[in-house]
Amino acid sequence: MPQFPTASYPLARPRRLRRTPALRAMVRETAMTPDNLIWPIFLQAGRDEESAIASMPGVTRRTVDRAVKAAREARDLGIPAMCLFPYTGIESRTEDCAEAWSDDNLTNTAIRAIKDAVPEMALMTDIALDPYNINGHDGFVEDGEIVNDRTVEALVKMALAQARAGADILGPSDMMDGRIGAIRAALEAEGHGHVSILSYAAKFASAFYGPFRDAVGASGALKGDKKTYQVDPANPREALRMVARDIAEGADMVMVKPGMSYLDLCRRAKDEFGVPLFAYQVSGEYAMIEAAAQNGWLDGDRVMMESLLAFRRAGCDGVLTYFAPRAARAMAG
Ligand code: PBG
Repeated sequence: MPQFPTASYPLARPRRLRRTPALRAMVRETAMTPDNLIWPIFLQAGRDEESAIASMPGVTRRTVDRAVKAAREARDLGIPAMCLFPYTGIESRTEDCAEAWSDDNLTNTAIRAIKDAVPEMALMTDIALDPYNINGHDGFVEDGEIVNDRTVEALVKMALAQARAGADILGPSDMMDGRIGAIRAALEAEGHGHVSILSYAAKFASAFYGPFRDAVGASGALKGDKKTYQVDPANPREALRMVARDIAEGADMVMVKPGMSYLDLCRRAKDEFGVPLFAYQVSGEYAMIEAAAQNGWLDGDRVMMESLLAFRRAGCDGVLTYFAPRAARAMAG
């Protein structure tokens, strides 16, 4: 029997499997494809125009015709879903937020136009009053308080209008209590039982939403903060209770938001509930990566892909990300 001295070489050499691209591909544990992407886009009124958003370089607000073009682009890249956010100037915001449930508001008009041109694209909406509210809040404000039940009634009307327009996935992002159950019941009652709900369940009161509020015109409007309805960033157990509650009320899928700073919640939500899980890589996360890349401090494309992979590793089925078309292009090679 020859003797193998163990002291002179390592027993295991994991580097053997990192030696070539083929070997690395064979043992890669996490896969990412365009199927894992949801592309959030911003809408604006008008025709054939796009406008830049200063704090989100590379992201624009699009008129409906341009949104249709974007949908074709997304389809060609293999992206299965888009999420629509309307920009509303301060002059069109009101206290009663009636535009939120108008059949002809920007979101509902865009849903119809995109469904007409690209019927296979899954369309997700946002349900909250903030794009229409004079106060910039997600709910009605009475005597300085964001009132719950009256807001839920309005959110239900908003949900029904979006379902009528042809939305596939409704995304309540408002964090009012009881809204998922109320929306689910109304959808069933009105013949929209097939429409799914992706609830912003673990949604934190985060400073990472800053650039988004510029994008939808809410920055100037918002009075105060959203801490009385969004979850305290210090509270993971509370966030998990919100996930459990929203599933019990009829959510088909749940979201953790923001993403990169809350990957612990992604993993825990996936392990505990096993439902389809999405993270929102929000505007501030996008802005950080872009700002560093523009300064030449980070390789933007590589950091983008690495950040998206982290969501998959943490158990997410997909990611809402402003990088979606760029990431899909990178995946195509
Ligand atoms: C509105 C809403 C927000 C975002 C999505 N829906 C902002 C907020 O809650 O203030 C943020 C998305 C982003 O930052 O990219 N209810």
